[in-house]
Amino acid sequence: MTIAVLQGIWLIFPAYVAGPGAVLLGGGRPIDGGRTHKDGRRYLGDGKTWRGLVGGVSFGFIIGLLQDFANQFSEWPEMSFGSYPYNVLVIFLLPFGALMGDMIGSYIKRRKGIERGQKAPVLDQYDFLIFAALLVAVLQWSWFFEHYLDGFAILGLITIVVLTPVLHRITNIIGHRMGKKEVPW
Ligand code: CTP
Ligand code: MG
Repeated sequence: MTIAVLQGIWLIFPAYVAGPGAVLLGGGRPIDGGRTHKDGRRYLGDGKTWRGLVGGVSFGFIIGLLQDFANQFSEWPEMSFGSYPYNVLVIFLLPFGALMGDMIGSYIKRRKGIERGQKAPVLDQYDFLIFAALLVAVLQWSWFFEHYLDGFAILGLITIVVLTPVLHRITNIIGHRMGKKEVPW
């Protein structure tokens, strides 16, 4: 059971670090190019930049590859991202899905008239996680099933669902104190 919880956290980590990676590396040209939707608001806003997207995905991908390398020395097959080349796909899909979810979240916020950086409870905390999980579930179903649904593995899924808002809050406070994030949420 402990292993189930640990693998849940360990394997989602590349998705978790994508957002902070985007905060650290982001800036510059916005992905929507400054364009506005017909509702008069931005498609995504200045908080979604190309540098943040590419930087955050790369950051999560590199962290995932390092974790995968570290796995060689572990005695828990549960912690595996899978065998080559599927492991590389999973390790890419996690941060990529996370930042796609983050963009979808911003798109929904803008359509609801919520400005960049303003709070949107649930959406802010879970957009990245839902889309990262969805992408992996669709494209690597057997890996997702084995590591997040089958038997005790579901405890890992429950753990990350509970832990996500807490970690989200902590990382955002750190980002804010570092002067990297305008608001602490
Ligand atoms: N960031 C970025 N590019 C991305 C995602 C994030 O540059 N694709 C950077 C931006 O500097 C952004 C910060 O990370 O301000 C924090 O991200 P987030 O909280 O998702 O954006 P917000 O500024 O809060 O905007 P939104 O209301 O759209 O969520
Ligand atoms: Mg935000």
